[in-house]
Amino acid sequence: MSSKPDIGIGIVGYGSMGRAHAYGYTLAPHIRELPVTPRLRLISGRTEDAVARAAGAYGVERWTTDWREVVSSPDVQIVDVCTPPGGHREAVEAAASAGKAVLCEKPASVDYASAEAMAQVVADAGVPNAIGFNYRRLPAVALMKQLVEEGRVGDVLLWRGTWLSDEFLDPDIPFDWRFERATGGSTIADLGAHLIDLALWLVGDVEEVSAQSETFTRERSGREVDIDDASAALLRFANGARGTFEVGKVAARRPCDYFVELNGTAGTLRFEYPRLNELWYGDAREDATVYGMHRIRAEHPTHPYAGEWWPVGQGVGYGMTFVAQAADLLERWPDGPWDPDLRHGARVQSVCEAIERAAAEQRWVRVAEVADYASA
Ligand SMILES: NC(=O)c1ccc[n+]([C@@H]2O[C@H](COP(=O)([O-])OP(=O)(O)OC[C@H]3O[C@@H](n4cnc5c(N)ncnc54)[C@H](O)[C@@H]3O)[C@@H](O)[C@H]2O)c1
Repeated sequence: MSSKPDIGIGIVGYGSMGRAHAYGYTLAPHIRELPVTPRLRLISGRTEDAVARAAGAYGVERWTTDWREVVSSPDVQIVDVCTPPGGHREAVEAAASAGKAVLCEKPASVDYASAEAMAQVVADAGVPNAIGFNYRRLPAVALMKQLVEEGRVGDVLLWRGTWLSDEFLDPDIPFDWRFERATGGSTIADLGAHLIDLALWLVGDVEEVSAQSETFTRERSGREVDIDDASAALLRFANGARGTFEVGKVAARRPCDYFVELNGTAGTLRFEYPRLNELWYGDAREDATVYGMHRIRAEHPTHPYAGEWWPVGQGVGYGMTFVAQAADLLERWPDGPWDPDLRHGARVQSVCEAIERAAAEQRWVRVAEVADYASA
């Protein structure tokens, strides 16, 4: 028996993210010394059989078809929201108002106004809160941030982020929440939220954007699709850097391929998710005999997060990001602060919304048109 106090986790939604987050809490104590022992108390979902099966498979003590029970259960201290974006705000606000800490999956919501409103509710409640930008916790991505902060690329001039998948390519895929704006938001905010998170984190605030979007299959299962299949944008950062952004769910044979690159006055860094244990680095100050980009194996124990995993050469995978996320949050229990938080989630959403507006209106849009903070 552990002598540490228990911390009760309640998960809203048992789909792919409910599963990933349950996995994260279960393994977090395996990799890190934590001040508390996470206990998976309760999970909710709309379908009785399915949520019961998920609770059994994920090792959650109880299940319910009413998410409000997760929020009100006295043995739940952290409410983890893993439902489609259209439902995030209601669950997050109810949890924070009940004094519970909250982790919410990305994107924060389906528009900036609701993302900002929920960030304000959690701030007023004073509860630890976080948004699920899990990719920051990959050793190679965390190392990218470290190298930028160490000045290894100098001042960032250019940023580019691209995310390609084929999940919307087949016109016969039936309608579900991902095709409905009110529930799913947009592809810009779905895939793009991860890219914009990394852009804000690695480069800084985005000031202005221009964009284009297309929906190639406009009807599924007899219902109108009001979400973009693919979008692209040009970004102007507040510090003068320029960026390009592309998301596409109609890229044949691309499963979940994303790439982020920075070009600075002193070097280039590039991360390619299909080879997630590697980071490419070119140092402009280096002897020209070795001119070019070098492949860093981001698995060395001195690299962020890598030391708590396997011996060098074994690498990590997607699941690791949820374990590290859970460990980072639990490590700071009970006071936090947690990072990135829902306020940051709202900032990411404001850039996504500016991109949506720029594409719809075919013009450059300042992020300050969407969000007050940006004009400050
Ligand atoms: N961080 C990541 O790597 C990552 C990956 C995938 C999804 N996500 C995010 O996680 C959230 C959930 O995505 P998912 O892939 O787990 O979804 P999913 O479809 O696999 O599961 C959705 C869950 O929400 C419940 N639900 C509640 N209202 C619903 C509705 N109106 N329609 C459908 N399901 C509803 C379902 O019962 C189910 O338990 C989304 O915000 C998504 O963007 C994040």
